[in-house]
Amino acid sequence: MEAKRVGDQMCRHLGSNRPPIVILTGAGISAESGLSTFRGDGGLWAGHRVEDVASPSAFDRDPDLVYEFYNLRRRNLLSIDVKPNAAHKALERLQSEWSERVTIITQNVDDLHERAGSSNVIHMHGELLKIRHLDSGEVRSWNDDCDGSTLDGRWRPHIVWFGEAILETAAISEALMSAGLFLCIGTAGQVYPAAGFVHEVAGPSVEFNIQRTAISKSFTDAVLGSAAEHLPIFVDALLK
Ligand code: APR
Repeated sequence: MEAKRVGDQMCRHLGSNRPPIVILTGAGISAESGLSTFRGDGGLWAGHRVEDVASPSAFDRDPDLVYEFYNLRRRNLLSIDVKPNAAHKALERLQSEWSERVTIITQNVDDLHERAGSSNVIHMHGELLKIRHLDSGEVRSWNDDCDGSTLDGRWRPHIVWFGEAILETAAISEALMSAGLFLCIGTAGQVYPAAGFVHEVAGPSVEFNIQRTAISKSFTDAVLGSAAEHLPIFVDALLK
């Protein structure tokens, strides 16, 4: 099976030299937890392109629409059916059993890595369960709806919108520079800078996706298929 073959190969390649690992995750890893991806069939929201709702200009033009978009996503994330899947759990296992540092950089704004028990998770695109003050920049945890009347009325979702700078750039650069293996899971490779991370790691790289993507050619190897099915097999082989 592909995941085992690639896992065995990476294990042999790294030998006893166990370098730090960096893992980039995208919407595909949470798809099997019931959260829809951005660019698939469910990529439209109420007739809007997601890019047209997730932007500072959309917030200026129609804040209620933008608040509502994130309120629905927050409610969905907190619904009883949404929970971490076998792929999130496999990454937690890798983090706890690999002898060197394993950093997860996620483009996802959900908290499924944390719910699976992972630590050292960098949320480069923000977090759905946090809000940010428009004036002071203060960030606080928030599990309820948020709108223009929340608290003092000056709060927005703690989400990086199109056209805004990603978060935690220093920690990301440091992790990429020190890594000797790069895994990329469930991302279409269409949004930069994340889509370019594969070029910043010295060492092999593996892409996990149900289909080939815009950046597949940049990887040393690929495992085609569901992350929840294949990642546990790969991690098992890598840890042998
Ligand atoms: N297992 C593995 N991969 C999967 C699975 C699965 N079960 N289901 C879907 N995928 C893959 C799809 O083939 C696709 O390549 O996940 C990818 C999801 O792509 P996008 O929806 O574009 O999500 P992502 O790449 O994370 O988007 C990046 O764009 O809209 C912005 O800020 C938003 O963080 C997001 C960023």
